Amino acid sequence: MNRRQFLKSASSAAALLSLPRFAIAATDDGFLQLEAVKGQGRLYGEDGGLSDLWLYNGKLPGPEIRVKRGERVKVRFKNSLDEPTSVHWHGIRIDNAMDGVSGLTQPAVQPGETFDYHFVAPDAGTYWYHAHHMSWNQVPRGLAGPLIIEEEDNPFSPDADIILSLSDWRLDDNGLLDTASFGARHDFSHAGRLGNWLTINGTSLPDIPVTKGRWHRIRLINTSASRVLDLAPSRFGAKVIALDGQGFDTARDIDGVIQLAPAQRMDLVMKPDSAGPIPFEMMTGQPFTFANFVVSGEKAEPEELRVPAPNSLPEPDLANARSFPLVMAGGAMGRMQSATMNGQEMSMRELVQAGNFWAFNGQAGMGDKPLFSAKRGATIVLESTNNTAFPHAIHLHGHHFRVLERNGEKLAHPDWRDTFTTQRGETVKIALVADNPGKWLVHCHMLGHAASGMMDWFEVA
Ligand code: C2O
Ligand code: CU
Repeated sequence: MNRRQFLKSASSAAALLSLPRFAIAATDDGFLQLEAVKGQGRLYGEDGGLSDLWLYNGKLPGPEIRVKRGERVKVRFKNSLDEPTSVHWHGIRIDNAMDGVSGLTQPAVQPGETFDYHFVAPDAGTYWYHAHHMSWNQVPRGLAGPLIIEEEDNPFSPDADIILSLSDWRLDDNGLLDTASFGARHDFSHAGRLGNWLTINGTSLPDIPVTKGRWHRIRLINTSASRVLDLAPSRFGAKVIALDGQGFDTARDIDGVIQLAPAQRMDLVMKPDSAGPIPFEMMTGQPFTFANFVVSGEKAEPEELRVPAPNSLPEPDLANARSFPLVMAGGAMGRMQSATMNGQEMSMRELVQAGNFWAFNGQAGMGDKPLFSAKRGATIVLESTNNTAFPHAIHLHGHHFRVLERNGEKLAHPDWRDTFTTQRGETVKIALVADNPGKWLVHCHMLGHAASGMMDWFEVA
């Protein structure tokens, strides 16, 4: 599908974007009812066919879950798929037992079974939930939805608070989800499963209604299996106020391109001044429009921007930190010779036969021993080195960390993140306070990489 076909198909399909709010039924005891089901959706516009999808409550993306900071999220999850699954609450500094990692923090929820998730959400911001059992297969079929934790004094009214869930799909020649290629070894050993079609909240090239002269908060969530999105917010007059849920003190202008890797979030603020429409572009060498902000009305009073106060996170104590390496190796053109798997040293050939292409610190997949263990409250510095030919998006569960340095250079903004990007050959230094007890996953969020070796765990005791 080329750009012209995209625009042709999409303009006839231009749909008004909406994500129904508070649309989830609750039980008598106050649990939201979330159900993983098989369903269908038109990914390739109105004239495309119906793709077979796996969905939460039959919706793409899954229904918005929204609570205030400090409140309890209570979800009664039912698995109506034909295979086991679990739900992970990405980016929440959560109680370990509720983290939703099948095989580590809970047994998988079997078909027909239910599981109650209930946890306090300590930080305001933009988060998401997604399947965490064979994620490489379940997430890119549709099992993902937004999780919004609101500030007590959220300055943006509901119609100026816009969630855009960005998803990359691989469609076949008929415009249907290509299911035959799930798990392809070539994808796993290269850049992951990349698609050829983008949707926003499940829709192709939607119109996003905005009001002239008014400040909007735009919450971007990249739910793609592997696609890193290059955005240029200043091209449509937007500034960044938060990354991975964690807010800044002031709105930040971005010069040029900022990446939104799989699982990352970015909150923008934007006050449309012109009549519009304002194209929402992705930078793929040249700008590519994948939605339009349609401007209407005019706010009478000129509006001041109010940025919500950041969350308070435990500050790393770098003077007393313990450092650990995180060396990424493997993949196509990676020159990895061998790695440990299930306690045994294996040659690359043996690893590949067992479906593993990647390793952290010479360990392919989950080891018997943690990648590191920390005493509760200790500051941990991870010195990562990307010795592979591909970018990765590394996610730590249960914690946020500061990204301190890239290639030995201190960053002007050591932002808080839960997922950091690393390019081929790059070193990235991050620091966290390991204050959340339990066994936590650390993995690449390019889901095929995680499934083929780039996944391990750490422990906070
Ligand atoms: Cu977004 Cu281990 O997950
Ligand atoms: Cu990766």
